[in-house]
Amino acid sequence: MAAALLIFAAGNLFARETVTLRDGWEFRYGWDFAASRWEKISLPHTWNTADKESDHPYTRTMGLYRTSFAFNPSWNGKRLFLRFNGAATVADVMLNDRYVGRHKGGYTAFCFEITDLLERGKTNRLSVRLSNAETSDVIPLTGDFNIFGGLYRSVELIAADKVCVSPLDYASSGVYITQTSLSDEKAGLSVKVKLLNEERTEQTVSVEIDGRRFTGKGVDEAVIAAEIENPRRWNGVADPFLYTAVVRVGNDKVTETFGVREFSVDADRGFFLNGNPIRLNGVCRHQEREGKLSALTEEDHLLDIKIMKEMGSNALRAAHYPQAKEIYEACDREGLLVWAEIPFVGPGGYDDTGYLPSPYLHENIRTQLIEMIRQNYNHPSIVTWGLFNELKMSPNPVPFLEELNRLAKEEDPSRPTVAATNLLASEPLTFVTDLIAWNQYLGWYGGTPAMLGIFLDAVHQRYPELKIAVSEYGAGASVLHHEEAIRKPQATGKFHPEAYQTEYHIQNWKALKAREFVWGTFIWNLFDFSASHRTEGDRDGINDKGLVTHDRKEYKDAFYFYQANWRDDIPVLHLCEKRFTDRGKKRIFVRAFSNVGKAELFVNGESAGIAEPDDLRCLIWKNVKLNEGKNQIELKAVDGTAADSCVWNFKQ
Ligand code: GCU
Repeated sequence: MAAALLIFAAGNLFARETVTLRDGWEFRYGWDFAASRWEKISLPHTWNTADKESDHPYTRTMGLYRTSFAFNPSWNGKRLFLRFNGAATVADVMLNDRYVGRHKGGYTAFCFEITDLLERGKTNRLSVRLSNAETSDVIPLTGDFNIFGGLYRSVELIAADKVCVSPLDYASSGVYITQTSLSDEKAGLSVKVKLLNEERTEQTVSVEIDGRRFTGKGVDEAVIAAEIENPRRWNGVADPFLYTAVVRVGNDKVTETFGVREFSVDADRGFFLNGNPIRLNGVCRHQEREGKLSALTEEDHLLDIKIMKEMGSNALRAAHYPQAKEIYEACDREGLLVWAEIPFVGPGGYDDTGYLPSPYLHENIRTQLIEMIRQNYNHPSIVTWGLFNELKMSPNPVPFLEELNRLAKEEDPSRPTVAATNLLASEPLTFVTDLIAWNQYLGWYGGTPAMLGIFLDAVHQRYPELKIAVSEYGAGASVLHHEEAIRKPQATGKFHPEAYQTEYHIQNWKALKAREFVWGTFIWNLFDFSASHRTEGDRDGINDKGLVTHDRKEYKDAFYFYQANWRDDIPVLHLCEKRFTDRGKKRIFVRAFSNVGKAELFVNGESAGIAEPDDLRCLIWKNVKLNEGKNQIELKAVDGTAADSCVWNFKQ
């Protein structure tokens, strides 16, 4: 067994050391015992990359991981911990053939102390039995996404002094920074530091913020009052200003970034950040992509955030589960407002239930909620904790949801709770969380986009106290599918023309944009994603409602509709259906998006007229004549700031 290559994080040898166990792992399937074909791998890893994208079911099984590492003499006298940032889904950890612990949940970190299990001066053998098989006591029980198995986020070895900031409090950093007051003159903070303290003597804990040092004392925890003079607020994409808190106790040091801000949600006027109204122009994102699936690197996560910013989005619903810390950290830096949620997911329109009133399941849901909140407590970007998605009323989840809501508010009184529902507003589960949002697909699964405004107005009128958002809306599209007519395809069909998705989003956004009481909207989905049970669109196993393809290579036309409407800092002039190269009609409908005003269309150098953007920044030419053969299409902004072009072929 190859010893793991120990990557030492930079840092003072006398302080905490964190080692990433990335290389030198081996993997095999549990059922592979006869062959024991161990494969050399590095983390992050998922065994589902061995599946075909269209496999249904995809492989849900027991995977075995093992690695080894030498005992580092600098660890003498220290406490050693193993931290897993994400392992799907049920993990049993062993070290040197002794049992370390179990964790149930595929999206939150977990941390075990291994000090007494280490063998000094020897090679230490770490192994993990990990199952992504279906269960009845770990959420999610169901859902329109794949639960890829594996050690798909990083694994770290932490060496800290005998008196240290605890890494064992639900695998959080052990540092909780709560804003107690905020004015232009001062931000008041309360910094709670959880300690591991073998000496059991009172410890002095210090926290440095913005050049000032504050101290407190405690045995198992210290609560330190701190303040920032003339604070600079974390202000979303406009000014995502972050502070750093350096916490020290004994020889240990933990650094956390945070932000100060205030926000509220009004049932009539929507979301306010630092006293200013801001509409959450959001997107939803699953944590996987073609090829790598869930085994994403930091670069992969950062690319997704970059694409969100490129479109002009200012908010992310990290659906349907706690996502990698790299995502929340990037949202802190970039100013995206985040809806974080636990994977308490119902079956949507399918015949199943994501819930059973089992004490075992309840215990897991509580634990995953506490883990999500404590591990992500200091992120200024997170503004709400999502408790569930599309639960049904039978078995009745409301009594447990009310308990869960209370737990969330005990854990974190500073953030409202939220949920996504697809039931009638009159259902009791509408009224559990502080905020409520609907998953609506009017114009895709049924109905028409015009019905969205009617629905929202009816709910707002009937329940004016509800703080309403739209947590999902979307339609499928293939970048390979085109037709001249713009008409709704069959949602479960194989043909998903791109132009209908574009039309769907224009009509839905028209309804959403007009309603100030809707505090946020979240497009489902920014990216195509894996859903093994689906056999629609241009390939099986994919939910193709993304505005960007699964490989992140192709941006669908609807992406540019939002970019033209949500960005004014760059010129946007986008000609639609450039991929629809072989046209079927001599006279065609042409659409474009522009945030640079009027634009003129040319066919083989001849003007087809100047169009002016409507209030959704759409340009339309209804009756453009194509010539036989090749048509060089040019689109030019009248003010000269942007252009686009393509070739359309026409044959009688
Ligand atoms: C539901 C569900 C999503 C699902 C989406 C869809 O609203 O919350 O997880 O992917 O619908 O049908 O595409």
